[in-house]
Amino acid sequence: MSQLSAPQIRRRKRRDGAEPIVMVTAYDEPSARYVDAAGVDMILVGDSVANVMLGHEDTLHVDVDVMAHHVRAVAAAKTSAHVVGDLPWLSYHVDRADTVHNAAAIIRAGASSVKLEGGVVRVEMVRALVDAEIPVMGHLGLTPQSVLAFGGFKVQGKTREAAKMLVEDALALEDAGVYAMVVEGVPSEVGRRITEAVSVPVIGIGAGPDTDGQVLVFHDLLGLSNRTPAKFVRQYADLGAQITDAVSRYARDVRENTFPGPNETYATPPELLD
Ligand code: KIV
Repeated sequence: MSQLSAPQIRRRKRRDGAEPIVMVTAYDEPSARYVDAAGVDMILVGDSVANVMLGHEDTLHVDVDVMAHHVRAVAAAKTSAHVVGDLPWLSYHVDRADTVHNAAAIIRAGASSVKLEGGVVRVEMVRALVDAEIPVMGHLGLTPQSVLAFGGFKVQGKTREAAKMLVEDALALEDAGVYAMVVEGVPSEVGRRITEAVSVPVIGIGAGPDTDGQVLVFHDLLGLSNRTPAKFVRQYADLGAQITDAVSRYARDVRENTFPGPNETYATPPELLD
């Protein structure tokens, strides 16, 4: 099956009868293979790699080289799912040329589109990317790259004014040419209003049930994260506990000298025994 293209995703609006979009993060070849086999529509190589794979407190500690490295690994899985690569903090904040070159590095690493955070303030950079034929996904609400400016990971759009500004941000992104947008960490009514306001699909994470799709972080969904899951996470497995159990059994077998057994050992040719 060929990958869903950005224009195909752009048409996936629930109000037009489309199925909800399923997106999940992945950061390496095996995880991309597993989620692709599950039939997801989109894989996000998120800058959450900084938190969930590299042990940082926030997403500000990864750059274009790190993101390209992980995009390359995911692309090696040759998935049917559309691969989106996150543009890291400061890779699209300075000028248009810089922004296009950084996005090109992510595309050349194997992504089919890029994602960036922010609304009205990022319109110029979105237009620069669209002009360079690079499909762009927006990201509004609790944008993790704004953690220092927000003073923490805080639900956004909680006042009438803030909610109105988010709708304006969404309209500005749509006008600038994004093919879809993520909306994160907002009251469900705000998620619904933004979804109604724009004609591109809105993919929610902590934005309620009325968006055009949902995204979760791989490690949160599978119980592999060392952080307390956010309220919006539904954990479908406890793989962390399973990994610890499996490795404990391996350690026990080594210590009790029951591993390797005869079936896990190469037979010695008779002439070596003489
Ligand atoms: O980096 C990431 O994982 C994300 C999702 C939370 C949408 O941007």
